[in-house]
Amino acid sequence: MKKLIAGNWKMNGKFGQNTALLDAVLAGLKEKPPTCGVAVCVPFPYFVQVQDYQDRSRDESGNPMLSLGAQDVSAHEAGAYTGEVAASMLKELTVSYVIVGHSERRQYHGETDQLVADKTKAALAAGITPIVCIGETLAEREAGHTEEVVKRQLAAVIHTNGHCISEIVVAYEPVWAIGTGKTASPQEAQAVHAVLRAQLKAATDQFARVKILYGGSMNAANAASLLAQPDIDGGLIGGASLKAPDFLTIIAAAQN
Ligand code: PGA
Repeated sequence: MKKLIAGNWKMNGKFGQNTALLDAVLAGLKEKPPTCGVAVCVPFPYFVQVQDYQDRSRDESGNPMLSLGAQDVSAHEAGAYTGEVAASMLKELTVSYVIVGHSERRQYHGETDQLVADKTKAALAAGITPIVCIGETLAEREAGHTEEVVKRQLAAVIHTNGHCISEIVVAYEPVWAIGTGKTASPQEAQAVHAVLRAQLKAATDQFARVKILYGGSMNAANAASLLAQPDIDGGLIGGASLKAPDFLTIIAAAQN
């Protein structure tokens, strides 16, 4: 399966800084066209800036080597929801991916499993690929509840999205590994990915096309060993996506 490397800039950026980062990423992609998909999920105000790089990254067949992604989307279609952004609006801005249910949104914005499932549905209805994040906290892992937690989180998304489930991307992001420099070992990550793959298999006969990304302190040094695991189909990269050489090294490690 074609791997996917998606950067998650989180709430970082400034126009000048972004230009330097994107110039370097684009130059690297042109020098060595990736065989994996590459996206950057950026704050809303930078969509137009990234769109320009998306256009300039088109290969000979017209497909962008760098795709634009968002970090959140409303579960609603339109209406009196001040501050929300609808999936149809993202689509108009040529957004290809949207991160849904990141642990920071679950933790700081009270997003429930059902809200995450509804946001996933809204993205799919607009033709945008949701990158659905799931993962256990340190306390949950230490109590031996990892499987139960990730299965519960994914089950809500499967239940709400039915046969469309094969269109999603899943990102397993253990909360204790995000931004901490502590990565799940390739074996620990693979074990959870295998559980998720089995759960998807029970839900759809198209399970083999669902990418399951790993996220949580993936970096230039550990990407290759994580991406070598049979059920790790790419990465969701936070901190390391803000440094062009590191991001490009991770992309290089994801070549098939
Ligand atoms: P990190 O973030 O790579 O900085 O740990 C990953 C994420 O939160 O998506």
